[in-house]
Amino acid sequence: MKIPFNNDWIYNDDFNALPEGASVRIPHTVAVTPYDYFDESIYQKISGYQKDFELPDGAYGKKIFLVFDGVAHKATVYVNGKEIVTHNCGYTAFEADITDAVKLSGTNTVKVRVDSNETLNIPPFGYVIDYMTYGGIYREVRLEIRPENHISDVFARAGSDGILDIDVTFSKTDVPYSICLKEKASGNVVYTAENVTDTHFASGKIDGIRLWDTDDPFLYELTVSSADDEYMTTIGFRDSEFKADGYYLNGRKLKIRGLNRHQSYPYVGYAMPASMQRYDADIMKNELGLNAVRTSHYPQSQHFIDRCDELGLLVFTEIPGWQHIGNDEWKAQAVKNVEEMIIQYRNHPSIVLWGVRINESVDDDELYKKTNETAHRLDPSRPTGGVRYLKKSSFLEDVYTYNDFSHDGKTPGVDPKKKVATNPDAPYLISEYNGHMFPTKPFDSEEHRLEHALRHANVLDAVAGYDDIAGSFGWCFFDYNTHQDFGSGDRICYHGVTDMFRNPKQASYVYSACGDLKEPFLEVSSTFDIGEHPAGNRGKTYIYTNCDSVKMYKNDLFIKEYTHKDTVYKNLRNAPILIDDLIGDQMKENEGFSDRQNKIVKEAMNYIGIYGMNDIPAKIKMRLVEAMAVYHMKFEDAYQLFGKYIGNWGGTTLKFVFEGYKDGKPVKTISKTAFKRLHMEVKCSSDKLFEKDTYDVAALRITVCDEYGNVQPFFNDSLPMEIEGAGEIIGPARARISGGAGGTYIRSCGEGKIKLKISCPEGYEGIFEKDSMELEFTSAKNG
Ligand code: GAL
Repeated sequence: MKIPFNNDWIYNDDFNALPEGASVRIPHTVAVTPYDYFDESIYQKISGYQKDFELPDGAYGKKIFLVFDGVAHKATVYVNGKEIVTHNCGYTAFEADITDAVKLSGTNTVKVRVDSNETLNIPPFGYVIDYMTYGGIYREVRLEIRPENHISDVFARAGSDGILDIDVTFSKTDVPYSICLKEKASGNVVYTAENVTDTHFASGKIDGIRLWDTDDPFLYELTVSSADDEYMTTIGFRDSEFKADGYYLNGRKLKIRGLNRHQSYPYVGYAMPASMQRYDADIMKNELGLNAVRTSHYPQSQHFIDRCDELGLLVFTEIPGWQHIGNDEWKAQAVKNVEEMIIQYRNHPSIVLWGVRINESVDDDELYKKTNETAHRLDPSRPTGGVRYLKKSSFLEDVYTYNDFSHDGKTPGVDPKKKVATNPDAPYLISEYNGHMFPTKPFDSEEHRLEHALRHANVLDAVAGYDDIAGSFGWCFFDYNTHQDFGSGDRICYHGVTDMFRNPKQASYVYSACGDLKEPFLEVSSTFDIGEHPAGNRGKTYIYTNCDSVKMYKNDLFIKEYTHKDTVYKNLRNAPILIDDLIGDQMKENEGFSDRQNKIVKEAMNYIGIYGMNDIPAKIKMRLVEAMAVYHMKFEDAYQLFGKYIGNWGGTTLKFVFEGYKDGKPVKTISKTAFKRLHMEVKCSSDKLFEKDTYDVAALRITVCDEYGNVQPFFNDSLPMEIEGAGEIIGPARARISGGAGGTYIRSCGEGKIKLKISCPEGYEGIFEKDSMELEFTSAKNG
């Protein structure tokens, strides 16, 4: 019996002050933070949680546990005054066997002492860390009542040969058990075995198995039952293999294309319930088109990994840590973390690689022999990696996983494997790139944001060109709050391809275009506002699309149809395409130019339009001389033509329309011109909240757009909000908008309707099409 245990806790910032305190629900953070400009002292404390509870009927003669999915960072559990257990890792689950401390009838009291000081002698602490570590009982808690001799673990391996291998662990004595395998979606039983007596079991080939894959993540539910107990887990049949020449899933070579994910959110740090954890995986797969994620730099919520299983997102997960290795006690904890991570996560089909080094630490053979040995012993079916920034470092893992920050915008996208890996016959994977090499705010200049995007494209293109690189994980999915030693001084690392609310930045378009999205994707890098560029030059403009072709129109005149053949990238599917023509054939039609004259003048004007008059290449200069000599053109003619066809400082704004085509049909249109009115657009994760195991949260990603839906990158303000009914706003009652995008989170508190009103900032009435918008949500017990 599993009973959610998340409501009616009392919380106090000071453990010793309990039972005084505020009533809270789990997931909980010990400090609600502002969006930026806060430091780590805000969440470092020894806080206390307390809850009174009664046991349900039927607990007599049973074992009783409290299971904590995640408490940051050191937790000691007391029941009825008796100390039960201390757990020393903020990123793995633990259980407290409270059988001997609870009363079967009457009120029991559990207290948890939570130490979230960064001075603890456990990973990741001991030196600086590039992310906030927060604090609190931030993942869910449950009460479990199990038979005396219960099934404490089932470890399942299921390969593409259709063979299911399982290891069953009983808490006390081995007893016979049965196995039942069902399709998770339909519930159809596909395999059973009765009266199994060996705790290690291998089925024969199970016929008709559907494999788990990135594009068809088919799942099965495995139930192991003894006379007294039942254990359920979700599995998938797949073969996953890192080889010297790349990564193979079910025998098919697949280039891993992922991003690193932290588990933080604005305001509440780590404390978000299942729906928000799952939503991140949805965004990665369905909006960014990724096929993989690295859970940097620690194991993350089971809800997130469950969703990766369901979506077919490959996972590289790793033990907590950041560069620093501590003393023997610290190292023993690191090895324990490997053990906990593997036992807790090893049935997930999405997990394909264990990270068993402290991220970016130096070599420590003694320690890493132990972590590797532990991983291989507990899971012989998966390889190990260990993230390093060192070339040719001591190689104890199965996959050389390396942070390649060599690209600086001009240099090649990545180093070749042979320059980095210690053993050329070992598989090789890039675990990070970009990040601090080019921090980018959503409200940075257009050229900066474009450069950020192109750097991601450059690395992806280089990786795609190397057959012996299994793939790569960019740094990183979203911007995150960090310590003073990192970031932009406001305690934010602007390294994300999305902002803290997961709104896309331009760099994310590269992923959406080259990824596995089924929906048509089309974006253009520029707003076409020449005043945003030095000297009023247009600068380079790129198309990001997964369409077959894109037709470009200027003021309703067709200019050019672009296809992916027009890109300069050699290896990357659907790579960015440079817009190299703003004129088309107009001069032939309007000015009566011959083909040759049109070609010469157009080439020169398009060049000058992008780069300006200085440094015109010799080839173009010679052609201009030709135009003067042969066609008797004068500088004034050229100037006048430039104003007419390219548009210059002092000219009237143009309108550009881009029409994406797939299979010959128009599928997506975007228009770029000067805005007239603004409006808010809200992407809501769900308007239905479920108070199931605990409260629920909806994420609202809010953008301020022009009438064509283009986000306005220099709109920086906040939108006042009012809420009514069974919900509350997380963080301030103003949706912060930076660079045209931002958001808020709504948390359920009970059942009923929730009404949210979002208004435009004071003074903008009339500039926004509507001064406010209203949204309605429902919060119900079950869905
Ligand atoms: C890496 C590190 C990440 C992050 C990144 C920024 O060295 O592993 O956690 O700090 O740099 O680019």
